[in-house]
Amino acid sequence: MEQINLDGSELSASRIVLGCMRINQMDDRSLSEHLRTALDLGINNFDHADIYGKGECETKFGKILKEELQREDIILQSKCGIRYGHTAGEDIEYYDLSREHIIDSVDGILQRLGTDYLDLLMLHRPDTLMEPEEIAEAFGRLEQSGKVRHFGLSNFNAPQFDYVQKYTDQKLITNQMQFGPAEPKIISSGLQANTPFAGAADRDGGLLDYVRLNDVTLQAWSPFHYGYFDGIFPEDPKYKVLNEKLETIGEAHGISKSAAAVAWILRHPAGMQTIIGTTNTERLTEIAKADDVNLSKEEWYSIYKAAGHVIP
Ligand SMILES: NC(=O)c1ccc[n+]([C@@H]2O[C@H](COP(=O)([O-])OP(=O)(O)OC[C@H]3O[C@@H](n4cnc5c(N)ncnc54)[C@H](OP(=O)(O)O)[C@@H]3O)[C@@H](O)[C@H]2O)c1
Repeated sequence: MEQINLDGSELSASRIVLGCMRINQMDDRSLSEHLRTALDLGINNFDHADIYGKGECETKFGKILKEELQREDIILQSKCGIRYGHTAGEDIEYYDLSREHIIDSVDGILQRLGTDYLDLLMLHRPDTLMEPEEIAEAFGRLEQSGKVRHFGLSNFNAPQFDYVQKYTDQKLITNQMQFGPAEPKIISSGLQANTPFAGAADRDGGLLDYVRLNDVTLQAWSPFHYGYFDGIFPEDPKYKVLNEKLETIGEAHGISKSAAAVAWILRHPAGMQTIIGTTNTERLTEIAKADDVNLSKEEWYSIYKAAGHVIP
């Protein structure tokens, strides 16, 4: 699989990343086979967050890492900043990017993964109460102690990204955003610029242009979802036209419709990575073929249109 250099770092990562958000649903044997298959396919980048499976995903991964994998063969990334609490009589999910919480979270992540360093730490979502000086201090300490080698953000819009970068000494190398044929918001705002169409709405402060201007690698999460985890388009009759188009184009290139959807993301010259979350090893093998396919512009736009988006 083609590797890309994560902007501003020495990390050479696969264009397809294996997301580990659902691996707590797998038994140890299937997970071991899944991870070995990923590595055989050339996927060397694994995405975690401290909240996935309430820590269970990192723990399960850590067990296999210790017993079967070589730490230096993989790029391990995780995220922190989302917390669960109970206050005033109700459970609440909230965000905490304070110095203490970032530092403590990394200790928990390293312990669960059974490693002494992360290649990449990302802050999971913007915390409107964040104080960038605290983030900068946390990053400085984590870098100095060798616990984290590189830093990035996740779900931050362009001005928020700039704001945090202004305070941190380390170059922030990645940002994660939801992106796929059914949810192409990050490209639609530019593609439909200066039109009255709904897709022209700017929801991220021009993030796509920002990351290209500032050499930040975008990682596309939940490529098969529509809405905010409302469902998956490959199984949804609402997306019949899109599914048929992906099937036809996929067939022409000898790949499945799911692989065609990933090829669509990889075709964008912004050089994004795609984080896929399948727990099915056969599906993983089939989707990885996307890496070998370079869609034409005509094919790319016809998939965008088939998903119901406007080409003005
Ligand atoms: N930064 C963030 O805020 C954020 C948010 C969400 C996710 N993420 C990251 O992104 C990763 C991927 O997210 P995701 O799991 O929601 O992404 P996804 O790859 O869009 O969805 C995977 C899910 O779709 C199912 N699926 C059913 N039919 C499918 C088909 N034909 N093709 C592909 N998948 C099909 C899979 O089932 P099977 O397992 O049975 O294949 C799996 O449950 C996560 O693991 C996580 O690392 C980050």
